[in-house]
Amino acid sequence: MSDQSKTSDTDASAMWGGRFSGGPNDIMEEINASIGFDQRFFAQDIRASKAHAEMLGAQNIITPEDAQSICDGLDQVYGEIETGTFTFKRSLEDIHMNVEARLKEIIGEPGGRLHTGRSRNDQVANDFKLWVRDAIDQMDVAMQAMQAALIDQAEAHSASAMPGFTHMQIAQPVTLGHHLLAYVEMLGRDRSRLMDGRKRMNECVLGAAALAGTSFPIDRHMTAKALGFDRPSANSLDSVADRDYVLEYLSALSITSVHLSRLAEEYVLWCSVQFSYARLGDSFSTGSSIMPQKRNPDAAELIRAKSGRVIGSLNALLIVMKGLPMTYGKDMQEDKEPIFDAHDTVMLSLAAMTGMLGDTTFNKERMAADAGKGFSTATDLADWLVRVLGMPFRDAHHVTGAVVKMAEDKGLGLDDLTLDDLQSIEPRIMNAIFEILSVDNSLKSRISVGGTAPSNVVSACAEARKRFL
Ligand code: ARG
Repeated sequence: MSDQSKTSDTDASAMWGGRFSGGPNDIMEEINASIGFDQRFFAQDIRASKAHAEMLGAQNIITPEDAQSICDGLDQVYGEIETGTFTFKRSLEDIHMNVEARLKEIIGEPGGRLHTGRSRNDQVANDFKLWVRDAIDQMDVAMQAMQAALIDQAEAHSASAMPGFTHMQIAQPVTLGHHLLAYVEMLGRDRSRLMDGRKRMNECVLGAAALAGTSFPIDRHMTAKALGFDRPSANSLDSVADRDYVLEYLSALSITSVHLSRLAEEYVLWCSVQFSYARLGDSFSTGSSIMPQKRNPDAAELIRAKSGRVIGSLNALLIVMKGLPMTYGKDMQEDKEPIFDAHDTVMLSLAAMTGMLGDTTFNKERMAADAGKGFSTATDLADWLVRVLGMPFRDAHHVTGAVVKMAEDKGLGLDDLTLDDLQSIEPRIMNAIFEILSVDNSLKSRISVGGTAPSNVVSACAEARKRFL
């Protein structure tokens, strides 16, 4: 804020102080003011005020000349804020009163007509909707960029084997491309959640006024249309009391940050010496001030951690809103900082993750070697017994268990056992079984819809490009 000016009984009280004889206590002013953070949506505030003024003019609630001078004045205010010559005053509480007070300074008396048929209660909800809508659109682009980075790597690694894990134990071989495409799906759902919320929130609040509507012959459809809303909101009380759109955006971001955090955690594992599946380039690694050999995946760790902030923001606003009686309460001013923080945090995390993905070299040999560990083709063996010998799956599972035990006792992999070994457990097994015990053959066989076979991954990448990019 450029002006932390002290209490002034000419600022705020000029806006609402008809019945007040003195200005507020300094502490009162400090706790009350939101200008420190709500100036962030000055553009939305001015845009909405212009739409309101034009409607007032069109309805002859104010003269068309006054409407015009209000719009011109608002353009000037916009320019002053954009170029940094505007002086924000804490004594004017918030962005709404800062803009309106300056408007009056610039155009004089007609400036006082802008607030006709309007209240800060519908104004703030409407401004904030406009801001959230813009934020959603920006977020969608960032998510799409990360999907593109994932698909690029998935395409490059459509046939690279890696172990697939359940319970963090090696389970079955998968392809790295398939693994990365899992995150493309998560982000796809994240994006559709954003769009769902956007559709639901896209109703214009202006005209609800303080809470009960207004006696002026306003045209809410006109204002709604001018601001790109689908329709005016239906109930004036709900309109000024509703912050669902903020909560929905925060919940969508919380889920995204959980997805990001899971990938970040995988990065931390993959970059460890023990795994050595991935190596981050210099631009996304950090060193240690004491251990010269270290290459730390700090960005991944921070992305993992930042999910806590985002979820915390959702939690904070849920608790603010819980138990608030109809309609507006000043409590609701606390909706802004959490969402700004969550939005900025997820934007940064997405950008960092997108950058990391482009800067990663995967160690194919290392991953392929691990893909065959832990008897990872045991399921292929059981499936073969079912397919070729006609065994019920439960019996095949049992036989395979015995084979695994034998390999484990001998300290061998499944495909290191001899035919004699295998036949000592199930005499009908023949040589052909060795074809399915290799990692590559296991991968190639997984051609069911949504499966990990390299051929599937190639077409899944092409599909993903069409669906998401
Ligand atoms: N700064 C307030 C907010 O963010 C604007 C609305 C204030 N309304 C009021 N009647 N005091 O919620």
